[in-house]
Amino acid sequence: MSGIISYTELEDKVKSMIKPSRFEHSLGVVEMSAYLASKFSLDSEVARYIGIYHDAYRYSCDETTPSFCIEHGIVVFPEEKENPMLLHGALAAIHFPEDAEGDVPDFYRIAVRHHTLGSRDMGLYGAILYIADYAEKGRKHLSEKERGFILSQNSLEKMIIVIMDAQREYFRKEGIANAAVSDELYSFLKNGGRLA
Ligand SMILES: [Fe+2]
Ligand SMILES: [Fe+2]
Repeated sequence: MSGIISYTELEDKVKSMIKPSRFEHSLGVVEMSAYLASKFSLDSEVARYIGIYHDAYRYSCDETTPSFCIEHGIVVFPEEKENPMLLHGALAAIHFPEDAEGDVPDFYRIAVRHHTLGSRDMGLYGAILYIADYAEKGRKHLSEKERGFILSQNSLEKMIIVIMDAQREYFRKEGIANAAVSDELYSFLKNGGRLA
């Protein structure tokens, strides 16, 4: 496997790709990802690398993005066709090797690919990213009590359930439908499924 650039080099690159506010959010995701990785005996450096990169293509989606993703072998969900912004994680998955200048392990790419809607296939680092993306300290939609409740759960799966419960309640009030891939993750976890 050819080497990939360092975390610091990747952080510099990402900084030039996104707005300052989004970069700040990404740093918050890095911090919480590292915390979650160490809490669950995973690799904090890997979690940080994935975290800094996850939103690098947040401002790069347009109506051509669904077909671009399909051409690059991504399975595009109906909700993503409707709302191409949701594909910024898929774009990051596609561009990760070129931006990191080497062979990025598949599980890094899978984690960033699924951070928007969640998926049973997102893996443990995808779970960390999903939780950190929602609950990093810069997220003002969350009270300290809510953040604390998420982080007090004793597994990544339970943390995701708490997040999805809140999201589903919000979607219900707003009349927004859940994506099928998110529903599938939710049922899987509620039935005791474990991510791997
Ligand atoms: Fe994102
Ligand atoms: Fe994000």
